[in-house]
Amino acid sequence: MADSYDLIVIGSGPGGYVCAIRASQLGLKTALVEKRATFGGTCLNVGCIPSKALLHASQLYEEAGRDFEKLGIKVAPELDLGRMLQFKDDGVKGNVDGVAFLMKKNKIATFHGTGRILKAGQVEVTGEDGARQVVEARAIVIATGSDVANLPGVEINERDVVSSTGALSFEKAPERLLVVGAGVIGLELGSVWRRLGSSVTVVEYLDRILPGMDGDVAKSLQRIYTKQGFSFRLATKVVGVERKDGALEVTLEPAEGGEQERVTTDAVLVSIGRVPYTDGLGLDEVGVVRDGKGRILVNGQFETNVTGIYAIGDVIPGPMLAHKAEDEGVAVAEILAGQTGHVNPDLIPSVIYTAPEVASVGKTEEELKAAEIPYNIGKFPFLANGRAKVNKTTDGFVKVLAHKETDRILGVHIIGANASELIAEAVVIMEFGGSAEDLARTCHAHPTLSETVKEAALSVAKRALHM
Ligand code: FAD
Ligand code: NAI
Repeated sequence: MADSYDLIVIGSGPGGYVCAIRASQLGLKTALVEKRATFGGTCLNVGCIPSKALLHASQLYEEAGRDFEKLGIKVAPELDLGRMLQFKDDGVKGNVDGVAFLMKKNKIATFHGTGRILKAGQVEVTGEDGARQVVEARAIVIATGSDVANLPGVEINERDVVSSTGALSFEKAPERLLVVGAGVIGLELGSVWRRLGSSVTVVEYLDRILPGMDGDVAKSLQRIYTKQGFSFRLATKVVGVERKDGALEVTLEPAEGGEQERVTTDAVLVSIGRVPYTDGLGLDEVGVVRDGKGRILVNGQFETNVTGIYAIGDVIPGPMLAHKAEDEGVAVAEILAGQTGHVNPDLIPSVIYTAPEVASVGKTEEELKAAEIPYNIGKFPFLANGRAKVNKTTDGFVKVLAHKETDRILGVHIIGANASELIAEAVVIMEFGGSAEDLARTCHAHPTLSETVKEAALSVAKRALHM
């Protein structure tokens, strides 16, 4: 007799494990299947958490050598990379153990093994030892996440030709690191290794970094990263990597085609995006429809074309972000419990955890222009903020885009210290349909970096106070 549940979730990343918790809170008898040894998915094991641990540690290392003396603190920092990697691994362990605890606390049945859907209502779980069992449920939620996109002609070995996973564990900082793709991973992990001593060159196919981000923001960032020591090769593609004389020889070509060039490097990080992960799930046999990019298509209730089979997170269309997966996990659990779960796809913030940090929510200027929506811009630099001035974190600005007629805030883009935290108030005010004036008239504590957000909102009506 197969075990029987209200819900089986396949995949324990931020989408899957949060979905399981919410379902259990709502009284659904819930099971979670995970093929990795630990819970938490990409995000906790090889994504958000370890990358943020290394970004934090490497930033302190750089600041200790570069800035502490100006604060009257004399230190001569010395890198113990082994210890830093251990610090990262300890952080991962704390987080994945935390999820295991939450599964127990919420009485979620957990299965370690690979899940394959036999038909709506039935999942076969194959353990590492090959043992199989069938689990039954009223509903199945696919939350199997995403995997690294490969670059044709470049074989990742996770030693010197790495994906983000290998770049979390270099045993020593490569003298020269060539990053393919000026996206989030390239800039975050490129920053880590630059701070730890690598000379970093980023090769980007397009003629700009961070496609999709507000163009003005991306331009400023490129200037800031270049000042920090990054080299950028834009409108360029990597066509091959070969091993030569103990190093790697990378062949570059203009994106449009043309004369090739060879550069030598010690390591290559391939970070050209991620693709939905559905291997071995049995989707074709069950008839679950995917789009041309392999993403599972769902309706507004997160249900696929097969009744009773749902999908959330990186495996469906939308930004591949942990908080988007989490919110979808909550929404689908609520829908399955008869409530009205909902995620607003227009207000999912995104953050790049470099120094300075970058955060944005809502529309970019380019999107507003394309949609012919009239807008005003309010911009305020961190240079004019008292707290940023005294802390010497003056790089960056806040940019508020508000509707020209209604003043409703349509987009907020921040480059600056703590941007990852500052963006939260923008998301809240936008969820409530607030205007730039609402934000400008809200009292912000002094001295805080958050005053830059208020001043940028004031600046929409050209009445910033400290400029
Ligand atoms: P995942 O986290 O990918 O989890 C899917 C899980 O399903 C995996 O554990 C997998 O083993 C399991 N699985 C797959 N198939 C099966 C099967 N058949 N049976 C059983 N189990 C299966 N996002 C942010 O928001 N902020 C960040 O700072 C951030 N940093 C990142 C840094 C890096 C280096 C990377 C690579 C990603 C980062 N992301 C970040 C993206 C984030 O990790 C993903 O958006 C998020 O993990 C998606 O969650 P998910 O639940 O959809 O899938
Ligand atoms: P990305 O989509 O952010 O960036 C990929 C970059 O590679 C783009 O600029 C693209 O134009 C470029 N590119 C594509 N093909 C190329 C080629 N052949 N040659 C040169 N450049 C090429 O992808 P990335 O950085 O791999 O990250 C994957 C996803 O992981 C992100 O989109 C994001 O969803 C998630 N992530 C989120 C983080 C965060 O929230 N802080 C951190 C890290 C990852």
